Amino acid sequence: MTEIKRGRDLGGRKAVVTGAASGIGAAVVARLLAEGCDVLAVDLNSAGLAGTHNLAVDVNDAAAIAAEVQAKLGGCDILINNAGVCPASPLGDMTDAMWEHALSVNVTAVMQLTRALLPLLKRSAAGRVINTGSILSRYGDAGLVAYTTSKHAVLGLTRALAMELGPDRITVNCVQPGAIETGMTRPMFQSNPASLTYYADKSALGRIGQPEDIADVMVFLATDDARFMTGQGIMVDGGVMVHS
Ligand SMILES: NC(=O)c1ccc[n+]([C@@H]2O[C@H](COP(=O)([O-])OP(=O)(O)OC[C@H]3O[C@@H](n4cnc5c(N)ncnc54)[C@H](O)[C@@H]3O)[C@@H](O)[C@H]2O)c1
Repeated sequence: MTEIKRGRDLGGRKAVVTGAASGIGAAVVARLLAEGCDVLAVDLNSAGLAGTHNLAVDVNDAAAIAAEVQAKLGGCDILINNAGVCPASPLGDMTDAMWEHALSVNVTAVMQLTRALLPLLKRSAAGRVINTGSILSRYGDAGLVAYTTSKHAVLGLTRALAMELGPDRITVNCVQPGAIETGMTRPMFQSNPASLTYYADKSALGRIGQPEDIADVMVFLATDDARFMTGQGIMVDGGVMVHS
C-alpha cells in the first residue's frame, strides 16, 4: 500500500512564488515564511519582495527564474504561479498587444515556469503546483475578454498538468479568487465604490476578500493533508458566485 504522509508541517520546504511583490503573492510569501519554508519571491517589481530570496524579473523569463531557484534553493517543492495582469477594454478597443500580454503572463508563463522547474519538482517527495485562476476561470465578464480567456486556460492547463504529473506525486490545483482587495483591484474599488459594494453585497459573508483569505487556501494545498486533491479549481470568493 502507498505510504500516506499526513500533516500540515511545511518546515524546510522550498517554495517559489510569482507575482510576489503585491496582493495575493505577497500574502502567500508571508504565510509560507511563517510555516518555515525557504521562499524565492519573484516579481517584475523589486519593491515589496520579502522572501528568503528575491528576484526582480519578468515571469516570462523562465530560464532566469530556474537558474535562481537552483542557485538559491537547490530544489523546489512548491511552485505558486500567481503573477497576473488584467487588461480591461471593450473588444472593439482591445489591441493585439493587450491580448498577447494577458495570455503571455497569465498562461504561457505558467506553462513555461512549470516546465522549467519540472526536474526539481519531480525530485520532491510532495511536489505542489498551485496556479492562480479566477472566478473568471468559470464565468465571463464584459470588457475582460483577454483576462477571462486566459483564466479559463489556466484551469485547463491545471487539469492537463494534474494528469501528466500525477505519476511523479506532483499535485496541480487552481485557486479561483473572487473580488480581493489588492493592487489589481484597489484603483477600481476607489474610483468606483459601487463595484466594491456590489461584490460585498453579493457575498454570503458580506465582504470582499483580503489577500490572506486566498493565501491560507494556497498554503493548505501545499501541505501533505492536501495530498489527494489534484486537478481542481477551488473557488474562494466568499460565496459570491453561489448567489442566485
Ligand atoms: N484581486 C482580485 O480580485 C483577483 C481575483 C481573481 C484572480 N486574481 C489573480 O490573482 C493573482 C494576483 O493578483 P493580485 O490581485 O494580487 O494583484 P497585484 O497587482 O496586487 O499583484 C500581481 C503582481 O504580479 C506582478 N506581475 C505582473 N506581471 C508580471 C510579470 N510579467 N512578471 C513578473 N511579475 C508580474 C505585478 O508586478 C504584481 O506585483 C493574479 O493572477 C490575478 O489575476 C485576482
